[in-house]
Amino acid sequence: MNIREIRSIYIHFPFCRHLCNYCDFYKNIPKNKEKEYEAYEASLVKGFALLTDLLKENDSTLGALNTLYLGGGTPSLWGERGAAFLKNFLLDRNIILGPSCEFTFEVNPGGWTEEGLLAWRDIGVNRYSLGIQSLNPHFLKLIDRVHNIEDVHETLNYFSSKKLSFSVDFMLGLPFSKKFKRDIISELEEILVHDPEHISLYILTTKAGYIHKDHLPDDEYIEGEYLRVSNFLIKRGYDHYEVSNFSKKGKESNHNLQYWKSESVAALGPSATGFLKEAQTRFKWKMTQVDFVLEKLTAEEMKLEEVYMALRINRPFDLSMFTDNLLELEKVLDLWQERKLLNTRAGSTISLNSNGFLILDSLMDDLFKHELV
Ligand SMILES: C[S@@+](CC[C@H](N)C(=O)[O-])C[C@H]1O[C@@H](n2cnc3c(N)ncnc32)[C@H](O)[C@@H]1O
Ligand code: SF4
Repeated sequence: MNIREIRSIYIHFPFCRHLCNYCDFYKNIPKNKEKEYEAYEASLVKGFALLTDLLKENDSTLGALNTLYLGGGTPSLWGERGAAFLKNFLLDRNIILGPSCEFTFEVNPGGWTEEGLLAWRDIGVNRYSLGIQSLNPHFLKLIDRVHNIEDVHETLNYFSSKKLSFSVDFMLGLPFSKKFKRDIISELEEILVHDPEHISLYILTTKAGYIHKDHLPDDEYIEGEYLRVSNFLIKRGYDHYEVSNFSKKGKESNHNLQYWKSESVAALGPSATGFLKEAQTRFKWKMTQVDFVLEKLTAEEMKLEEVYMALRINRPFDLSMFTDNLLELEKVLDLWQERKLLNTRAGSTISLNSNGFLILDSLMDDLFKHELV
């Protein structure tokens, strides 16, 4: 029997210093750090045994890793303790990092120490994702971040002066952007001084009852801000390679590309979600119990998801694989081209540009309406 090797894993660290009021990710502030970190680490041990069984049932196993992503929450709070734990955890389970494994570690300004970072570097971390969000002290406060502008500068200065590989997380569509004239381009200018190899720019999405729900900018403003930022970063040498992601050449997030290419990714930790391609199965870890929920996808759901994910990245993708109605597909793509939504086109093989990314959901509706997916 052919055993498939899964070479990517996401691990979720569910603790933060403060709970930002817009955030919907699973996280807690530990009341008793020692106890709660210990329980979390025990849950990873127990969870890994379940994960191994799940993979086995699906003729799979974890191979030498190409990507490991430690996200949260705020993983940088786990510090030296976390690095020591994960080192032994991987060793004890014969989980090997492949020779060019991309090992990403999320860091929050004001939520790391140099000793902690060095310990993580020693166990293989070679890429950092910095949760900066804004470079305007006023907006940092407005969006309820616990870090201040000094923390931001300290973090950016540290990572750039050490010439580490890092990505910056930023947000647009912030409350009161119009009223207080948020100048996101000036903020990004300041970021670029530090020469990040990758920038993630998310449009703020909010939960029901969000405190600033009446202070969010309108759609027209957000669309303008998104396209302004995209044009600016493209001019400055970044590729807008995914709806919310920009990178220098060859510096895309390999881990996230796995999702966008609908490839298998293992996952561990409360609320983490994994995907087993051949088994057409998604699994989502429960939040308060070491157990997961399995979701079997139908062929139809797999197809829709594959198209949606593939159109998120600006790599050529052949839509004719999904339909026999090539004439209709041609017509729809002609329209998209006329509307200047395409980055590349060769027949039915296309990729979207920033204008297309912005209205991806309505383009999916277009394909669906014309029965092309
Ligand atoms: C889950 S967070 C983890 C990183 C880190 N805890 C932080 O907040 O900086 C990953 C990224 O998702 C983005 N994010 C979180 N909540 C969001 C929301 N409601 N809308 C848009 N982006 C969000 C932020 O840019 C954040 O850096
Ligand atoms: S620090 Fe990040 S994960 Fe934690 S509450 Fe804030 S946005 Fe959410």
